[in-house]
Amino acid sequence: MALSAERVRLKDGSEVDVRAIDPTDADALTEGLESLSPESRYRRFFAPKRSFSGRELEYLTAVDHHEHEALVAIEPDGRRGIGVARFIKDPADPASAEVAITVSDDWQGRGVGGMLLHRLAVRAVEEGVCHFTATVLETNDAIQELLRSVGPIRRRHLGGGVAELCVDLSVGDPCPAVLRGALQAAARGDLTPA
Ligand SMILES: CC(C)(COP(=O)(O)OP(=O)(O)OC[C@H]1O[C@@H](n2cnc3c(N)ncnc32)[C@H](O)[C@@H]1OP(=O)(O)O)[C@@H](O)C(=O)NCCC(=O)NCCS
Repeated sequence: MALSAERVRLKDGSEVDVRAIDPTDADALTEGLESLSPESRYRRFFAPKRSFSGRELEYLTAVDHHEHEALVAIEPDGRRGIGVARFIKDPADPASAEVAITVSDDWQGRGVGGMLLHRLAVRAVEEGVCHFTATVLETNDAIQELLRSVGPIRRRHLGGGVAELCVDLSVGDPCPAVLRGALQAAARGDLTPA
C-alpha cells in the first residue's frame, strides 16, 4: 500500500504529490528512466543507462527510510512519476550521505527539483546527516545551483569534467556544530564557494 502523500503547489501553480518511495514505485521508476532524454540520463548516471535490473529496482524502492531515503513526486491525476530524490548514508561516516535527484524533462525548471531536495534535506537532518555529497558533471549548472540552495558548497575537482560537491545542510538544528563551523569558515573567508 502506498504511503500517504502531501499535495504541493509549485511556483507555476501546478500541483504534485510527494511521498516516500515504496516498492509499488518500481514501474514508475522504470518508465521514468525510459522516458528521460539522453542528456538528462547522462547527467544523472554518467552513462547511457536505459533500464534497471530487478535487483536495482528492489534496492532503489525497498528502502529502509533511515540509511537510505527517497522521495517521489507524482502527477496527482495521471499518477505518473515525475521526479525522485534520494540520499544514501556513507556506512563509514553516517553523518554524510550521497544525494541524487532526477526530474522528468517535461517537468524540469518548474520547481520540482527544489521542492524535493528541500524536503529530502529535512529528512536527512532528522536522520542525523550533516552533509550531502554529490558527484556531478562540472557543466551541470542546474544541480550545482540547486544544491547551493540548501547549504554552502565545497567543490573538489575529480578530473575528466567531474566534481564532488559537499553541501553543509543548514536546515533544522541537529548539527549545530557543523553549521557553526561553516559560518565561522565563511566569516574567515575560508569557505571555497563552488
Ligand atoms: C538537476 C535537476 C534535478 C533540477 O530539477 P528542476 O526541477 O529542473 O529544478 P527546479 O526547477 O526546482 O530549479 C531549482 C533551482 O535550480 C537552479 N536551476 C534549475 N535549472 C537550472 C539550469 N538549467 N541552469 C542553472 N540553474 C538551474 C535554479 O537556481 C533554480 O531556482 P530558480 O528557478 O528559483 O532560479 C533536473 O534538471 C534534472 O533532473 N536533471 C537531470 C538529472 C541530473 O542532472 N541530476 C543531477 C545529478 S545527481
